[in-house]
Amino acid sequence: MCYGITNRGENMAFNIEYLDTIDSTNNYLKKLAEDGAPSGKTVVANCQTAGRGRRGREFMSIPDKGIYLSYLLRINDVSPKNCANLTAWVSVAVRNAIISAYGIDTQIKWVNDIVLNRKKVGGILTEISVDYSTGNVSYIIIGIGLNVNHSVSDFPEELQGIASSFYAETGVMYDRTLLCEELIRALDRLSLDFPSAIESYLVPYRENCITLGNKIRIITPVDEKMGFALSIDDSFGLYVKLDSGEHTTIYSGDVSVRGYYGYV
Ligand code: BTN
Repeated sequence: MCYGITNRGENMAFNIEYLDTIDSTNNYLKKLAEDGAPSGKTVVANCQTAGRGRRGREFMSIPDKGIYLSYLLRINDVSPKNCANLTAWVSVAVRNAIISAYGIDTQIKWVNDIVLNRKKVGGILTEISVDYSTGNVSYIIIGIGLNVNHSVSDFPEELQGIASSFYAETGVMYDRTLLCEELIRALDRLSLDFPSAIESYLVPYRENCITLGNKIRIITPVDEKMGFALSIDDSFGLYVKLDSGEHTTIYSGDVSVRGYYGYV
């Protein structure tokens, strides 16, 4: 895979590493971060042997077809609590990058799945490292996985109908380099925007979040509850009316949305 990025523009660090195979770009970049790599350092792999998703799940990372990218973000004097919604910001940046590269209008399933035609085409795994001497964030690894040129048959049977790719949904093969470039640009922009320019992320998030206005199942480590997704609050929390009649806002956890990912 050959990426043609030569210029990341003003304020953007030119620091991108391309690998053919790695266990996980997040794991690899974490090691570079511990060794002092600068903010903006980006690692892109053609394939991962142990790609990780949220909640300890595997992220299928077959060669030549997807994008597996990790981006290092260093922000000064920010507490982990104030970064809790960063992953939602990233989903907007990823959506913007997909529009710029391919002209495809994806949606977001709360909190940060990238969705096309009611199927998941990508996800984001953000990992925060804390400096325990100050209690502040020392660095953040933003990991992005996107299914670009996969055929339906590339997905295991149990994922067909739940996961898909841009190619499988549109019949068009896409240039991965182009999207990598746009992703890095969008993340460079986000690193300047965060946390002050929240409206530029909150407004498109609300407009494109498919979870809203749908029946949902909220899955926590202890139980499951049914409800209806009403709105996104100013911290990207999901405001829900539970079937019990109670209203609540959730800030983390898994939500299934009726009508999406084969959930009927
Ligand atoms: C999810 O959907 O649960 C998140 C998936 C995140 C996958 C990406 S691929 C690049 C980076 N490296 C990893 O091991 N995971 C993330």
